[in-house]
Amino acid sequence: MEIKEKEILRELKKYRERDLKYEDGKILGSMCSKPHPISKKIVEMFLESNLGDPGLFPGTKELEGEVIKSIGNILNNKNPFGYIISGGTEANITAMRVIKKISRGKKGKDKDKKANIILPETAHFSFEKAKDMMDLNYISPPLDKNYIMDVKYLKDYIEDKREKHGIDGIVAIAGCTELGTIDNVLELSKIAKEHNIYIHVDAAFGGFVIPFLEERYRLENYNYEFDFSLENVFSITIDPHKMGLAPIPAGGIVFKDYSFKKYLDVEAPYLTDTYQATLIGTRTGIGVATTWALMKLLGSEGYREIVSKCMDNSYYLIKKMKEYGFEKVITPVLNIVTIKDEDPLRTSLMLRDMGWYVSMCRCVDALRIIVMPHINKEHIDNFIEALSQCKRD
Ligand SMILES: Cc1ncc(COP(=O)(O)O)c(C=O)c1O
Repeated sequence: MEIKEKEILRELKKYRERDLKYEDGKILGSMCSKPHPISKKIVEMFLESNLGDPGLFPGTKELEGEVIKSIGNILNNKNPFGYIISGGTEANITAMRVIKKISRGKKGKDKDKKANIILPETAHFSFEKAKDMMDLNYISPPLDKNYIMDVKYLKDYIEDKREKHGIDGIVAIAGCTELGTIDNVLELSKIAKEHNIYIHVDAAFGGFVIPFLEERYRLENYNYEFDFSLENVFSITIDPHKMGLAPIPAGGIVFKDYSFKKYLDVEAPYLTDTYQATLIGTRTGIGVATTWALMKLLGSEGYREIVSKCMDNSYYLIKKMKEYGFEKVITPVLNIVTIKDEDPLRTSLMLRDMGWYVSMCRCVDALRIIVMPHINKEHIDNFIEALSQCKRD
């Protein structure tokens, strides 16, 4: 290796060494984890792939079709259409773009009126970005006692206000960022069917958890259904770079079928494919290839094991919290644990000074721990000790 190259790499290493490492177990508030080791080889193999110009990369493009089919399989959809894109943010913005286009078509001469979309209070902030770009009007029903959208309120609201405003879409969350709760998509689907409303499900986190969640972790009387088997669910965000263990960037947007492509297509005359549907033009095929490989390598059984380990560790954390006198906000639905705290900002900053990175909820005064695959029981023991030390100081 040339001296200059060696120096540059040495320099880069110095920067990289300042980053936290998942395996140290101190990252407790991230929805990403250490990518599966097979990813390294694949990243190198697909380094120059560009799905923005798919005619030049027909092999990678075919892989994308296969990945969407496999994801369709876990979401109960035999004819899925979609893309592996930069992340959940892009996926949610893409879905809002479709709702906006459909609403424009329906509104005719009033096409410049805002699209009215029901959005849970617990929705990820990516929807705020969509609102800025597309001038959407969000209506947020209150949360019920389980921290999910109050379906009864919503039903009454739609029946009351529909004639006046028209509801163009409902966003439901399957694994909300703060608490891991799942909206009652089954009931929402009945309302949407009756009133011909589009449902987008944000399963960016839950998409690679809920289908693999063993019966023993499922809460009684809780509705876990969220996929295309429910009527009027027309699109789902599902991110391989969260619980799918793919390296970043690998987000997923999946539609019920190919007919939704027309809402996204723009002419791209100077490319090999004359239409482009994704928000991002030039885009890597690395997410496609790594997701394809991981779904083959791990399969349902592998993902089930990963999810079970995370759920066991979530319950272990709950047990330790109890021993140390900390209270949870809810019994974990997925591998997200909440810890009640009067001043979560202060506590999280104290923890950060001790090297622990946790995050906070917005909808309730609490810390939130995402029990990702890189967290083990020893990390949990050490964390609880640190947390109780914060409370003593
Ligand atoms: C439910 C949900 N949707 C969307 C996103 C955005 O995903 P990304 O950060 O990959 O853009 C997140 C991120 O945490 C999320 O939790």
